[in-house]
Amino acid sequence: MSTVTGRESGAGAGGPDRAGLRQRAIDDRAGLLESDPLLNHEYDGIREYDNPTPGWWHALFLGSVVFSVCYVLFWHVSVFGWTSEESIAARRVVEYQRIFGALGELSNDEPTLLKLMADQRMMAIAAGSFRGACAACHAADGGGINGVNLTDDHYKNVRAITDIFGVITGGAANGAMPAWRNSFSNNERVLLAAYVASLRGTEPGSPRAAEGEPIQPWPEPPEGGTRAEVGRVEGGGGGGGA
Ligand code: HEC
Repeated sequence: MSTVTGRESGAGAGGPDRAGLRQRAIDDRAGLLESDPLLNHEYDGIREYDNPTPGWWHALFLGSVVFSVCYVLFWHVSVFGWTSEESIAARRVVEYQRIFGALGELSNDEPTLLKLMADQRMMAIAAGSFRGACAACHAADGGGINGVNLTDDHYKNVRAITDIFGVITGGAANGAMPAWRNSFSNNERVLLAAYVASLRGTEPGSPRAAEGEPIQPWPEPPEGGTRAEVGRVEGGGGGGGA
């Protein structure tokens, strides 16, 4: 019962039976639909075939429900749900161990401290420790909060650059400045001492008034080396106190 349109007759002339093939496809589709059971309801003359959603669709839907439950349990409930912060911290520990392993045991002497002060990478590591352990009292830029200002030329417990390590290790003022001997390894404390020394002469945001006595400038860096400028506000040149 095909109607012959202009296009169909043209196609018929070219290929043997394109119109016929198309008609067969239409008939097949109709037959397929007729083989589906019609549902019993009717809305404004519109009937509906019972075509269930395919199995793969159900599988995807159920899969995503199961996945969401596992996701919530893993990340928000279980102890295994690590965060990106934690994985960075773990990698940092590995990196520290690698660097410190290569350093050997650092000693708290003038040449070592001056060399560390010029080492960008070491000062970046120390800046991280300082922010974590010291900034609460000394401020992240060393300007001082209830701990003293570490950027000026006045010191209470320090006369030479090598004295800083002792204050960090043993604390001061009956624990107002805590002792860090058990919290930081020897190398970490030497690094921190170099970092604190490097804060001298910088310009913090809101400095606490100077306390203690003015002391001599730090010794000159070896071979005109410069100080690393990492993680802090660099002010005018250092030294020039006494
Ligand atoms: C709980 C507060 C607090 C924390 C945390 C703290 N400090 Fe202090 N720090 C102080 C106080 C208070 C003083 C002054 C001590 C005094 O009056 O003799 C001080 C003094 C110092 C001094 C000697 C300064 C001077 O003028 O003699 C250094 C160096 C120092 N701190 C380094 C650090 C480092 C490095 C850290 C982190 C590892 C740190 N502090 C953490 C409170 C703190």
